[in-house]
Amino acid sequence: MATVGKVIKCKAAVAWELNKPLVIEEIEVAPPRENEVRIKIVATAVCHTDLYQLFENKDSAGFPAILGHEAAGIVESVGPGVTEIKPGDKVIPLFIRQCRECHFCKSPKTNQCVVAWDGAIPTSDTPITCKGKNLQLFAGTGTFTEYTVVHKLAVAKIDPAAPLEKVCLIGCGICTGYGAAVNTAKVEPGSTCAVFGLGAVGLAAVMGCHAAGAKRIIAVDINPDKFEKAKVLGATDFVNPKDHSEPISQVLSEMTNGGVDFSLECVGNVGVMRSALESCIQGWGVSVIVGWTEMDDVSARPLMMIAGRTWKGSVFGGFKGRDAVPSMVKAYMDKKLKLDEFITHNLPLEQINDAIEMMKQGKCIRTVLSTSTK
Ligand code: APR
Ligand code: ZN
Repeated sequence: MATVGKVIKCKAAVAWELNKPLVIEEIEVAPPRENEVRIKIVATAVCHTDLYQLFENKDSAGFPAILGHEAAGIVESVGPGVTEIKPGDKVIPLFIRQCRECHFCKSPKTNQCVVAWDGAIPTSDTPITCKGKNLQLFAGTGTFTEYTVVHKLAVAKIDPAAPLEKVCLIGCGICTGYGAAVNTAKVEPGSTCAVFGLGAVGLAAVMGCHAAGAKRIIAVDINPDKFEKAKVLGATDFVNPKDHSEPISQVLSEMTNGGVDFSLECVGNVGVMRSALESCIQGWGVSVIVGWTEMDDVSARPLMMIAGRTWKGSVFGGFKGRDAVPSMVKAYMDKKLKLDEFITHNLPLEQINDAIEMMKQGKCIRTVLSTSTK
């Protein structure tokens, strides 16, 4: 490609500061350094964690930045030391790295590689600048752009025939929810599950519970518009907490003769996390924290666990990204995994603030943004 070894000038949606709309700017993307991969982003979706970073977190350390972490693209060039990825490869950037060599990577129990979170650490040494300022790449991916640069351990190579405008969702929401059900909760055939929050993450959890053979899947959301999609993905019962005066855990307990076998919190709210735990049956109930928040502590009465419930959590559904993402793409290509149902809107990158607004208002599941460069 004509761009190899050169700085690429292109467009990106820049988050200059907390609580402000993103601004489409011209940015400069340096050639990949050692162990880095420069990717032309073709499709990128908006996830609630991007909104969390911009509006809810109140931590200015990560700005100015390019947000975005659920994307797919094509490798433009690679730096020295990159051997498994080459220009032209179709890839999905990963916000959880996988080195394949550490004791965590060698264990089947976890995706918490020793360098899993390295991309999330703010650094003054970023390869992308705008108006002379270095831009942070959110989650080590920064995908709301035409080009980004990521570490080689944060790249999953996928089927060259995969439609990037669909499989981009595998980069976060789908794996996060689906994996939380099948890998973390380990949902069992014939079981009863409850999923709190029916955005893409929660709907993917519903899909995971269904794939694992759950008999009953109770979909819980304060926005009843979400129930229709949940039904398509396998939910059997629908509960709006606003329709009930008693605590939601009591409602679920009455519906299920004592509580659900598995519950998954896909909202990112510590109160809902507690409710999800309390909705589990004593003796063996398992509750998984999937939603993201760092703002508050979570609490519960010890008796909840003493009586035999387990409280767990996972990130990216416990999937080891470089291994699992290509398999999830294959599952979609083989029609064993649904993705199209999650995509409610398609917009050009330039309209990213409209996509953010729709998510804030609960009017979309996923908006896929496309970049315009050929
Ligand atoms: N009880 C039940 N559902 C709720 C509640 C509540 N108290 N509050 C909000 N919700 C619902 C919203 O109505 C919405 O349908 O949770 C859903 C969240 O969906 P999205 O905003 O689309 O978020 P999503 O991208 O699915 O992410 C969900 O997972 O990865 C994390 O950071 C992410 O914490 C977020 C969560
Ligand atoms: Zn996400």
